[in-house]
Amino acid sequence: MNKRNFLKNIGLFGAGLPLIQNAKLEKWIAQFDHISASQLSADETFWQGVRKGYRLKPDYINLENGYYCFLPQETLEHFINHIREINYQGSFYMRTKRFDDKKAIAAKLAKLAGCSDEELIVTRNTTESLDIIIGGTHWQAGDEALMADQDYGAMQDMFGLVAKRYGVINKVIDVPNLPASDEEIINIYANAITPKTKLLLVSHVVNITGQILPVKKICAMAHSKGVKVLVDGAHAFAHFRYSIPELGCDYYGTSLHKWLSVPLGAGFLYVKKENIKDIWPLIGPGTSIKDDDIYRLNHTGTHPCHTDLAISNAIDFYLKIGPERKEARLRYLQNYWTSKVRDLPHVQINTPADPARVCAIANVAIKGMKPSELAKTLMEKYKIFTVAIERGIVQGCRITPNIYTTPAELDVFVKALTDLKNI
Ligand SMILES: Cc1ncc(COP(=O)(O)O)c(C=O)c1O
Repeated sequence: MNKRNFLKNIGLFGAGLPLIQNAKLEKWIAQFDHISASQLSADETFWQGVRKGYRLKPDYINLENGYYCFLPQETLEHFINHIREINYQGSFYMRTKRFDDKKAIAAKLAKLAGCSDEELIVTRNTTESLDIIIGGTHWQAGDEALMADQDYGAMQDMFGLVAKRYGVINKVIDVPNLPASDEEIINIYANAITPKTKLLLVSHVVNITGQILPVKKICAMAHSKGVKVLVDGAHAFAHFRYSIPELGCDYYGTSLHKWLSVPLGAGFLYVKKENIKDIWPLIGPGTSIKDDDIYRLNHTGTHPCHTDLAISNAIDFYLKIGPERKEARLRYLQNYWTSKVRDLPHVQINTPADPARVCAIANVAIKGMKPSELAKTLMEKYKIFTVAIERGIVQGCRITPNIYTTPAELDVFVKALTDLKNI
Protein backbone atom coordinates (compact mmCIF):
# COMPACT_ATOMS: atom_id res chain seq x y z
CA MET A 1 0.00 0.00 0.00
CA ASN A 2 1.44 3.39 -0.88
CA LYS A 3 1.58 6.08 1.80
CA ARG A 4 -1.43 8.02 0.45
CA ASN A 5 -3.71 4.95 0.48
CA PHE A 6 -2.40 3.90 3.86
CA LEU A 7 -3.26 7.29 5.32
CA LYS A 8 -6.69 7.28 3.65
CA ASN A 9 -7.40 3.87 5.16
CA ILE A 10 -6.66 5.07 8.67
CA GLY A 11 -8.81 8.16 8.10
CA LEU A 12 -6.12 10.70 8.87
CA PHE A 13 -5.35 12.13 5.49
CA GLY A 14 -6.51 15.56 4.36
CA ALA A 15 -9.93 16.19 5.88
CA GLY A 16 -9.13 13.62 8.55
CA LEU A 17 -6.32 15.73 9.97
CA PRO A 18 -8.51 17.82 12.32
CA LEU A 19 -8.67 14.68 14.47
CA ILE A 20 -5.23 15.69 15.65
CA GLN A 21 -6.50 19.02 16.91
CA ASN A 22 -8.82 17.01 19.16
CA ALA A 23 -5.94 15.55 21.09
CA LYS A 24 -5.82 12.42 18.97
CA LEU A 25 -2.13 12.85 18.39
CA GLU A 26 -1.31 9.49 19.89
CA LYS A 27 -3.38 7.71 17.22
CA TRP A 28 -1.54 9.62 14.54
CA ILE A 29 1.87 8.82 16.02
CA ALA A 30 1.01 5.16 16.48
CA GLN A 31 0.75 4.81 12.69
CA PHE A 32 4.44 5.67 12.43
CA ASP A 33 5.74 3.62 15.36
CA HIS A 34 7.55 1.17 13.10
CA ILE A 35 9.68 3.94 11.55
CA SER A 36 12.98 4.87 13.21
CA ALA A 37 13.48 8.39 14.63
CA SER A 38 16.17 9.19 12.07
CA GLN A 39 14.00 8.08 9.12
CA LEU A 40 11.04 9.95 10.55
CA SER A 41 13.08 13.14 10.88
CA ALA A 42 12.58 13.72 7.14
CA ASP A 43 9.02 12.37 6.85
CA GLU A 44 6.93 15.46 6.06
CA THR A 45 3.61 13.59 6.31
CA PHE A 46 4.31 12.70 9.92
CA TRP A 47 5.41 16.22 10.89
CA GLN A 48 2.49 17.85 9.07
CA GLY A 49 0.26 15.86 11.41
CA VAL A 50 2.19 17.17 14.41
CA ARG A 51 1.98 20.74 13.02
CA LYS A 52 -1.82 20.48 12.97
CA GLY A 53 -1.70 20.41 16.76
CA TYR A 54 -0.47 24.03 16.89
CA ARG A 55 -2.34 27.26 16.23
CA LEU A 56 0.05 29.18 14.01
CA LYS A 57 -0.06 32.87 13.23
CA PRO A 58 -0.17 33.23 9.44
CA ASP A 59 1.45 36.69 9.37
CA TYR A 60 5.06 35.47 9.46
CA ILE A 61 7.29 32.41 9.59
CA ASN A 62 8.32 32.10 13.21
CA LEU A 63 12.01 31.19 13.48
CA GLU A 64 12.28 32.61 17.02
CA ASN A 65 11.11 29.83 19.30
CA GLY A 66 14.06 30.39 21.60
CA TYR A 67 12.63 33.03 23.92
CA TYR A 68 9.43 31.08 24.44
CA CYS A 69 7.92 28.22 22.50
CA PHE A 70 4.15 28.61 22.79
CA LEU A 71 2.01 25.60 23.62
CA PRO A 72 0.46 23.08 21.29
CA GLN A 73 -3.34 23.30 21.50
CA GLU A 74 -3.52 20.10 23.53
CA THR A 75 -1.38 21.49 26.37
CA LEU A 76 -3.14 24.85 26.14
CA GLU A 77 -6.53 23.21 26.68
CA HIS A 78 -5.22 21.36 29.75
CA PHE A 79 -3.75 24.61 31.08
CA ILE A 80 -7.05 26.46 30.69
CA ASN A 81 -8.84 23.62 32.46
CA HIS A 82 -6.38 23.84 35.37
CA ILE A 83 -7.11 27.56 35.68
CA ARG A 84 -10.85 26.81 35.69
CA GLU A 85 -10.54 23.99 38.20
CA ILE A 86 -8.38 25.91 40.67
CA ASN A 87 -10.69 28.88 40.36
CA TYR A 88 -13.60 26.54 41.11
CA GLN A 89 -11.97 24.90 44.12
CA GLY A 90 -10.37 28.07 45.47
CA SER A 91 -8.67 27.88 48.85
CA PHE A 92 -9.80 24.29 49.24
CA TYR A 93 -7.36 23.26 46.51
CA MET A 94 -4.61 25.49 47.89
CA ARG A 95 -4.97 24.04 51.39
CA THR A 96 -5.33 20.39 50.41
CA LYS A 97 -3.79 19.14 47.15
CA ARG A 98 -1.53 21.96 46.03
CA PHE A 99 1.70 20.88 47.75
CA ASP A 100 1.34 17.19 46.91
CA ASP A 101 0.62 18.05 43.27
CA LYS A 102 3.71 20.22 43.04
CA LYS A 103 5.89 17.49 44.53
CA ALA A 104 4.44 14.91 42.14
CA ILE A 105 5.20 17.20 39.19
CA ALA A 106 8.75 17.77 40.44
CA ALA A 107 9.14 13.98 40.68
CA LYS A 108 7.92 13.59 37.08
CA LEU A 109 10.47 16.18 35.96
CA ALA A 110 13.20 14.48 38.01
CA LYS A 111 12.49 11.20 36.22
CA LEU A 112 12.88 12.95 32.87
CA ALA A 113 16.09 14.64 34.04
CA GLY A 114 17.45 11.32 35.35
CA CYS A 115 17.93 12.55 38.91
CA SER A 116 16.40 11.85 42.30
CA ASP A 117 13.24 13.75 43.24
CA GLU A 118 15.17 14.84 46.35
CA GLU A 119 17.39 16.94 44.08
CA LEU A 120 14.90 18.93 41.98
CA ILE A 121 12.42 21.72 42.66
CA VAL A 122 10.03 23.58 40.37
CA THR A 123 10.89 27.27 40.02
CA ARG A 124 9.63 30.11 37.82
CA ASN A 125 12.50 30.00 35.32
CA THR A 126 16.25 29.69 34.78
CA THR A 127 16.91 33.15 36.17
CA GLU A 128 15.39 32.24 39.52
CA SER A 129 17.05 28.79 39.56
CA LEU A 130 20.56 30.00 38.85
CA ASP A 131 20.33 33.17 40.91
CA ILE A 132 19.32 31.10 43.95
CA ILE A 133 22.71 29.40 43.63
CA ILE A 134 24.77 32.48 42.75
CA GLY A 135 23.18 34.53 45.54
CA GLY A 136 23.07 31.63 48.01
CA THR A 137 26.74 30.58 47.78
CA HIS A 138 28.76 31.40 50.91
CA TRP A 139 31.10 33.95 49.35
CA GLN A 140 34.21 35.48 50.97
CA ALA A 141 35.86 38.66 49.74
CA GLY A 142 38.42 37.76 47.07
CA ASP A 143 36.64 34.55 45.96
CA GLU A 144 36.49 34.22 42.20
CA ALA A 145 33.65 33.25 39.89
CA LEU A 146 34.26 32.17 36.30
CA MET A 147 31.85 32.60 33.39
CA ALA A 148 31.76 33.36 29.66
CA ASP A 149 30.80 36.55 27.91
CA GLN A 150 28.38 34.34 25.96
CA ASP A 151 26.48 33.40 29.15
CA TYR A 152 23.08 34.94 29.74
CA GLY A 153 22.99 38.56 30.96
CA ALA A 154 20.76 37.92 33.99
CA MET A 155 23.33 35.56 35.50
CA GLN A 156 26.16 37.99 34.82
CA ASP A 157 24.06 40.67 36.54
CA MET A 158 23.67 38.43 39.59
CA PHE A 159 27.43 37.82 39.71
CA GLY A 160 27.80 41.62 39.47
CA LEU A 161 25.57 41.94 42.52
CA VAL A 162 27.54 39.45 44.64
CA ALA A 163 30.74 41.21 43.53
CA LYS A 164 29.34 44.44 45.00
CA ARG A 165 27.97 42.81 48.10
CA TYR A 166 30.79 40.41 49.05
CA GLY A 167 33.82 41.50 47.02
CA VAL A 168 33.69 38.51 44.67
CA ILE A 169 35.96 38.82 41.61
CA ASN A 170 34.29 37.84 38.34
CA LYS A 171 36.43 36.48 35.53
CA VAL A 172 34.91 36.40 32.06
CA ILE A 173 36.26 34.31 29.18
CA ASP A 174 35.12 34.01 25.54
CA VAL A 175 33.84 30.71 24.16
CA PRO A 176 34.92 30.48 20.48
CA ASN A 177 32.00 30.26 18.05
CA LEU A 178 33.67 27.55 15.97
CA PRO A 179 36.00 25.53 18.25
CA ALA A 180 38.32 22.94 16.75
CA SER A 181 37.91 20.51 19.67
CA ASP A 182 36.48 20.05 23.17
CA GLU A 183 39.98 20.54 24.52
CA GLU A 184 40.17 24.05 23.05
CA ILE A 185 37.12 25.03 25.13
CA ILE A 186 38.14 23.16 28.27
CA ASN A 187 41.59 24.77 28.21
CA ILE A 188 40.07 28.25 28.04
CA TYR A 189 38.11 27.55 31.24
CA ALA A 190 41.01 25.67 32.90
CA ASN A 191 43.49 28.50 32.23
CA ALA A 192 41.18 31.01 33.95
CA ILE A 193 40.84 28.96 37.16
CA THR A 194 42.99 30.02 40.15
CA PRO A 195 43.15 28.72 43.76
CA LYS A 196 40.53 31.40 44.55
CA THR A 197 37.93 30.14 42.02
CA LYS A 198 34.82 28.94 43.83
CA LEU A 199 32.09 28.65 41.19
CA LEU A 200 32.11 28.17 37.41
CA LEU A 201 29.02 29.01 35.37
CA VAL A 202 28.71 27.27 32.01
CA SER A 203 25.92 27.26 29.45
CA HIS A 204 24.84 23.81 28.28
CA VAL A 205 23.76 25.51 25.05
CA VAL A 206 25.13 28.98 24.26
CA ASN A 207 21.79 30.69 23.74
CA ILE A 208 22.97 33.23 21.16
CA THR A 209 24.68 30.71 18.84
CA GLY A 210 23.14 27.32 19.68
CA GLN A 211 26.54 25.74 20.35
CA ILE A 212 26.33 22.77 22.75
CA LEU A 213 29.30 22.89 25.15
CA PRO A 214 31.18 19.81 26.47
CA VAL A 215 29.69 20.27 29.94
CA LYS A 216 30.59 16.81 31.24
CA LYS A 217 34.30 17.36 30.49
CA ILE A 218 34.20 20.92 31.88
CA CYS A 219 32.69 19.58 35.14
CA ALA A 220 35.38 16.89 35.44
CA MET A 221 38.14 19.47 34.85
CA ALA A 222 36.64 21.98 37.33
CA HIS A 223 36.12 19.32 40.01
CA SER A 224 39.75 18.21 39.66
CA LYS A 225 40.61 21.78 40.75
CA GLY A 226 38.03 21.90 43.56
CA VAL A 227 35.62 24.23 41.72
CA LYS A 228 31.82 23.76 41.79
CA VAL A 229 29.92 23.95 38.51
CA LEU A 230 26.59 25.65 37.87
CA VAL A 231 25.06 24.76 34.48
CA ASP A 232 22.68 27.05 32.62
CA GLY A 233 20.40 24.56 30.88
CA ALA A 234 17.81 27.09 29.69
CA HIS A 235 18.11 25.87 26.10
CA ALA A 236 18.89 22.21 26.64
CA PHE A 237 16.03 20.56 28.53
CA ALA A 238 13.54 18.76 26.22
CA HIS A 239 15.59 19.99 23.24
CA PHE A 240 17.97 17.01 23.14
CA ARG A 241 18.41 14.04 25.44
CA TYR A 242 20.82 13.81 28.41
CA SER A 243 20.79 12.95 32.08
CA ILE A 244 21.77 15.66 34.56
CA PRO A 245 23.69 13.34 36.96
CA GLU A 246 25.72 12.05 34.00
CA LEU A 247 26.91 15.59 33.31
CA GLY A 248 28.42 15.55 36.81
CA CYS A 249 27.48 19.14 37.65
CA ASP A 250 26.69 20.52 41.10
CA TYR A 251 23.74 22.68 40.11
CA TYR A 252 21.55 22.86 37.00
CA GLY A 253 18.77 25.28 36.11
CA THR A 254 16.40 25.46 33.18
CA SER A 255 13.24 27.15 31.89
CA LEU A 256 10.38 24.88 30.91
CA HIS A 257 8.58 27.49 28.77
CA LYS A 258 11.28 27.11 26.14
CA TRP A 259 11.80 23.58 24.79
CA LEU A 260 9.19 21.75 26.89
CA SER A 261 6.47 24.24 25.80
CA VAL A 262 5.06 24.76 29.28
CA PRO A 263 3.01 27.94 29.94
CA LEU A 264 5.16 30.98 30.72
CA GLY A 265 6.76 31.06 34.15
CA ALA A 266 8.06 27.56 34.83
CA GLY A 267 11.51 26.15 35.34
CA PHE A 268 13.44 23.87 37.63
CA LEU A 269 16.54 23.81 39.78
CA TYR A 270 18.64 20.69 40.34
CA VAL A 271 21.02 20.64 43.28
CA LYS A 272 23.20 17.58 43.83
CA LYS A 273 22.16 16.16 47.19
CA GLU A 274 25.49 16.80 48.93
CA ASN A 275 25.38 20.53 47.99
CA ILE A 276 21.89 21.37 49.27
CA LYS A 277 22.98 22.23 52.80
CA ASP A 278 25.65 24.63 51.48
CA ILE A 279 23.24 27.03 49.77
CA TRP A 280 21.79 29.92 51.71
CA PRO A 281 18.04 30.16 50.78
CA LEU A 282 16.79 33.30 49.09
CA ILE A 283 13.55 33.23 51.09
CA GLY A 284 13.39 31.95 54.66
CA PRO A 285 12.33 28.28 54.78
CA GLY A 286 10.00 26.85 57.42
CA THR A 287 11.82 25.90 60.63
CA SER A 288 10.83 22.24 60.30
CA ILE A 289 12.65 21.82 56.97
CA LYS A 290 15.97 20.01 57.34
CA ASP A 291 19.20 21.56 56.01
CA ASP A 292 19.64 18.83 53.40
CA ASP A 293 16.05 19.08 52.11
CA ILE A 294 15.93 20.84 48.73
CA TYR A 295 12.54 22.32 49.63
CA ARG A 296 14.35 24.77 51.89
CA LEU A 297 15.26 26.56 48.61
CA ASN A 298 11.67 26.53 47.31
CA HIS A 299 9.58 28.81 49.48
CA THR A 300 7.66 30.55 46.67
CA GLY A 301 4.68 31.97 48.52
CA THR A 302 1.34 31.88 46.72
CA HIS A 303 1.84 31.81 42.96
CA PRO A 304 0.06 30.68 39.73
CA CYS A 305 0.11 26.96 40.49
CA HIS A 306 -2.06 26.11 37.46
CA THR A 307 1.14 26.70 35.49
CA ASP A 308 2.87 24.02 37.59
CA LEU A 309 0.04 21.60 36.84
CA ALA A 310 0.44 22.13 33.09
CA ILE A 311 4.06 20.93 33.34
CA SER A 312 2.69 17.42 33.67
CA ASN A 313 0.65 17.78 30.46
CA ALA A 314 3.62 19.24 28.60
CA ILE A 315 5.73 16.25 29.66
CA ASP A 316 3.00 13.91 28.38
CA PHE A 317 2.99 15.75 25.04
CA TYR A 318 6.79 15.58 24.82
CA LEU A 319 6.83 11.86 25.59
CA LYS A 320 4.09 11.27 23.04
CA ILE A 321 6.10 12.99 20.31
CA GLY A 322 9.11 11.06 21.61
CA PRO A 323 12.36 12.70 22.82
CA GLU A 324 14.42 10.81 20.23
CA ARG A 325 12.07 11.81 17.39
CA LYS A 326 12.02 15.43 18.52
CA GLU A 327 15.80 15.66 18.75
CA ALA A 328 16.28 14.01 15.35
CA ARG A 329 13.74 16.33 13.71
CA LEU A 330 15.25 19.46 15.26
CA ARG A 331 18.74 18.49 14.14
CA TYR A 332 17.36 17.68 10.67
CA LEU A 333 15.69 21.11 10.38
CA GLN A 334 18.81 23.00 11.47
CA ASN A 335 21.00 21.03 9.10
CA TYR A 336 18.41 21.44 6.31
CA TRP A 337 19.02 25.17 6.07
CA THR A 338 22.60 25.56 7.36
CA SER A 339 23.94 22.99 4.86
CA LYS A 340 22.40 24.99 1.99
CA VAL A 341 24.04 28.30 2.94
CA ARG A 342 27.15 27.47 4.97
CA ASP A 343 29.47 27.62 1.96
CA LEU A 344 28.01 30.75 0.34
CA PRO A 345 30.80 33.36 0.35
CA HIS A 346 28.55 36.17 1.66
CA VAL A 347 27.13 34.07 4.51
CA GLN A 348 28.74 33.47 7.92
CA ILE A 349 27.36 30.66 10.12
CA ASN A 350 28.41 31.24 13.72
CA THR A 351 27.52 27.74 14.90
CA PRO A 352 29.59 24.56 14.42
CA ALA A 353 28.50 22.00 11.81
CA ASP A 354 29.49 19.01 13.98
CA PRO A 355 26.20 17.32 15.09
CA ALA A 356 27.70 16.77 18.56
CA ARG A 357 27.93 20.55 18.99
CA VAL A 358 24.54 21.67 17.69
CA CYS A 359 20.89 20.65 17.60
CA ALA A 360 18.06 23.05 16.61
CA ILE A 361 19.57 26.51 17.05
CA ALA A 362 22.08 28.21 14.77
CA ASN A 363 23.25 31.77 14.23
CA VAL A 364 23.78 33.34 10.82
CA ALA A 365 25.16 36.62 9.51
CA ILE A 366 25.36 38.28 6.11
CA LYS A 367 28.86 39.71 5.75
CA GLY A 368 28.81 43.49 5.80
CA MET A 369 25.26 43.72 7.20
CA LYS A 370 24.43 44.49 10.81
CA PRO A 371 22.39 41.70 12.47
CA SER A 372 19.64 44.18 13.39
CA GLU A 373 19.44 45.19 9.73
CA LEU A 374 19.26 41.53 8.70
CA ALA A 375 16.45 40.80 11.18
CA LYS A 376 14.55 43.86 9.94
CA THR A 377 14.97 42.88 6.28
CA LEU A 378 13.92 39.28 6.96
CA MET A 379 10.74 40.47 8.65
CA GLU A 380 9.83 43.31 6.30
CA LYS A 381 10.75 41.73 2.99
CA TYR A 382 10.34 38.00 3.61
CA LYS A 383 7.95 37.85 6.61
CA ILE A 384 10.42 35.80 8.63
CA PHE A 385 10.64 36.52 12.36
CA THR A 386 14.09 36.05 13.99
CA VAL A 387 16.15 37.82 16.62
CA ALA A 388 19.31 39.87 16.06
CA ILE A 389 22.29 39.19 18.34
CA GLU A 390 24.95 41.88 18.60
CA ARG A 391 27.06 40.79 21.51
CA GLY A 392 30.88 40.69 21.47
CA ILE A 393 32.14 38.01 19.10
CA VAL A 394 28.58 36.90 18.30
CA GLN A 395 27.14 39.03 15.51
CA GLY A 396 24.24 37.46 13.62
CA CYS A 397 20.60 36.42 13.78
CA ARG A 398 19.61 33.48 15.95
CA ILE A 399 17.45 30.98 14.09
CA THR A 400 15.30 28.70 16.23
CA PRO A 401 12.80 26.40 14.53
CA ASN A 402 10.58 24.00 16.46
CA ILE A 403 8.82 20.75 15.63
CA TYR A 404 6.01 22.49 13.76
CA THR A 405 8.49 24.21 11.39
CA THR A 406 8.46 22.90 7.80
CA PRO A 407 11.28 22.60 5.27
CA ALA A 408 9.10 24.74 2.95
CA GLU A 409 9.34 27.58 5.49
CA LEU A 410 13.09 27.07 5.69
CA ASP A 411 13.27 27.22 1.88
CA VAL A 412 11.87 30.76 2.09
CA PHE A 413 14.60 31.59 4.61
CA VAL A 414 17.34 30.01 2.48
CA LYS A 415 16.15 31.97 -0.54
CA ALA A 416 16.23 35.19 1.49
CA LEU A 417 19.81 34.53 2.65
CA THR A 418 20.85 33.63 -0.89
CA ASP A 419 19.25 36.80 -2.35
CA LEU A 420 21.00 38.98 0.21
CA LYS A 421 24.35 38.50 -1.55
CA ASN A 422 23.73 41.76 -3.39
CA ILE A 423 23.53 44.09 -0.40
C1 LIG B 1 21.04 30.67 28.31
C2 LIG B 1 19.88 31.34 28.99
N1 LIG B 1 19.89 31.41 30.31
C3 LIG B 1 18.88 31.98 30.99
C4 LIG B 1 17.81 32.51 30.34
C5 LIG B 1 16.73 33.16 31.14
O1 LIG B 1 15.56 32.43 31.04
P1 LIG B 1 14.28 32.93 31.86
O2 LIG B 1 13.98 34.32 31.38
O3 LIG B 1 13.24 31.94 31.50
O4 LIG B 1 14.66 32.93 33.27
C6 LIG B 1 17.74 32.46 28.95
C7 LIG B 1 16.60 33.03 28.23
O5 LIG B 1 16.55 33.10 27.02
C8 LIG B 1 18.81 31.86 28.26
O6 LIG B 1 18.81 31.78 26.93
